[in-house]
Parts: sequence; structure tokens; C-alpha cells
Amino acid sequence: MIRLISILAGLFFTVALGWALILGVVGLAHDGLPTSAEKKFHEHPKELALASDGMFGKFDRQQLQRGFQVYKEVCANCHAIKLVAFRDLKALGYNEDEVKAVAKGYKVPAYNPGMGEMKTHDGTMADHFPPVVYAGQGSPPDLSLITKARHGGAAYVYSLLTGYQNPPADLPKENQPGAGLYYNPYFANLNIAMPKPLTSDGQVSYKDGTKATVDQMAQDVSAFLVWTAEPKLEKRHQTGWAVLGFLLFATILAYMAYRNVWADKKGH
Ligand code: HEC
Repeated sequence: MIRLISILAGLFFTVALGWALILGVVGLAHDGLPTSAEKKFHEHPKELALASDGMFGKFDRQQLQRGFQVYKEVCANCHAIKLVAFRDLKALGYNEDEVKAVAKGYKVPAYNPGMGEMKTHDGTMADHFPPVVYAGQGSPPDLSLITKARHGGAAYVYSLLTGYQNPPADLPKENQPGAGLYYNPYFANLNIAMPKPLTSDGQVSYKDGTKATVDQMAQDVSAFLVWTAEPKLEKRHQTGWAVLGFLLFATILAYMAYRNVWADKKGH
């Protein structure tokens, strides 16, 4: 009986492993392996330290506001952040009037059920950032969740923005950027359809006096995109600590109860 059970268990694990292998191979065949040149020239994201990192991480609201400014003045020409509502911006430290003013600057599409037609109206607190009409090459993804969707998160976005460079001399011909593509070793296939968006220092003027170098703007907008992807990050950290505290308390209590219950039954 025991024998049969162990054989069955062994069989189960063998089948499970075999199945995982088949899935893996099919997945690879489907996605394709990076070519050897892609592997050689591709670079891993640079280091980026943000205030929101780690278990104690909190957002630097000044930086989020700067990042939003970069998004609004540069990235918003091509990228939407459709999961963000205008009223969410209050969490960055803007007051009601400032947020209303931002919302008003956007035209939001709205379906008019009475007339059966699409119209637009000025954005209000309750609206989300509207879709962006883009006519260039490639398709700019919505950026709301991009720091969650890409390996490396904010560091990847930062590296991508600051990673444009001339193709190296020994880059094989088939990896050279074609028309409308730009060499960027942080992008998976080395050539990206996004023209370098942050091109010169001072491209935006920060209200808080921070120098708007390309590097600074790239860091700030990456920090902002961490917030769009997880606006409740601070809450999550807080809850985590509260739960840990409670567990610790419960453990101590249980230990004390154990000591108490066994106090006169042991030690003789
Ligand atoms: C002129 C239009 C344009 C502007 C401005 C622009 N982008 Fe893009 N972006 C694109 C396009 C097009 C793609 C798709 C590229 C591709 O798939 O090759 C893209 C892709 C991306 C990606 C995804 C890369 C990936 O891994 O798939 C990120 C992140 C990104 N942009 C961030 C930004 C940020 C941040 C800004 C502002 C600082 C910005 N973009 C400004 C056009 C633009």
C-alpha cells in the first residue's frame, strides 16, 4: 500500500515537472528568445533610489508634483494615464482649486445618451485623464501602470529616458535602428519608436526651484509613475507594520498563556 502511494506520488511529481517543462518550451517558442546581439547590448536598469522605496518608504510629494509637471508638459503629448482621476491629484499636495484648474485644461470625451453622440467637456474633479490621440510611429502605452508592468519598475523608466545613445560601432546590421526608431540599450529589442522625450536641461521650469536637468526630470517623472501605479503604497506599508505589530503582540500573549498554564505542571 505504502509502495503504491509512493509510486503514485512520484508519478504525480514527474507529470507536474514534465508539464511545467512543456509549458516553458511552448512559452519560449511563442515569445522568442532574445537574439545574441540583443543579449550582448541590452543593459539592465541603472540604480534609482526613491523616497518610496523599502518598507518605510513614503512619497516625496514635492518630487511627485515635479514629476506630474514633467508628465503633463512632455509625456502627455503621447501617453495617457487613464486610471488616474483628476481628484486623485489632491494626494500630491495640490489644493482643490489647483486640481480643478488642471482638470479644466483637459477635454474629456463624453457620450450624450439623449442625442446619441460623442461630445467633449472640460475636465472636472470626477473625470479621469482622457485618452491621447497619437499620430506618430508606434503606439505609446498608457503609463498608469507602467512601473508595475515592466521589470525594474521606476528604475527601468528612468534608465529608458536617460538611455538614448548612438549605436555602438560593433552593433550588427540587423540591430541598427531603422527609420523612425532610436537606439536605446535599456529597451528590450534595443530600438524604440519613442523619440527621446527629455532632450535638454530646463525643458520644464520647476516652481520649487529645483534645477530641471534631464536626469532630475527623468527621476521625478519615474517617481510620479510609481504613484500612479500604486497611490495607496504608504497605506500598504502602514498596514503591514500594524499587522506585524499585532502578530508580535499575539505571540507574546500566547507565550505568556503557555507559561501560565504549565507553570505548576513542569519542573518536577
Ligand atoms: C512623441 C511621443 C512621445 C512622447 C512625448 C513620450 N513618449 Fe513614451 N513612447 C512613445 C511611443 C511611440 C512608445 C512606444 C515605443 C515602442 O514600442 O517602440 C513609447 C513608449 C514608452 C514607454 C514604454 C517602453 C516599454 O518598455 O514598452 C515608456 C515607459 C515611456 N514611453 C515613457 C515616457 C515618458 C515618461 C515620457 C515623458 C518624459 C514619454 N514617454 C514621452 C511616444 C512618446
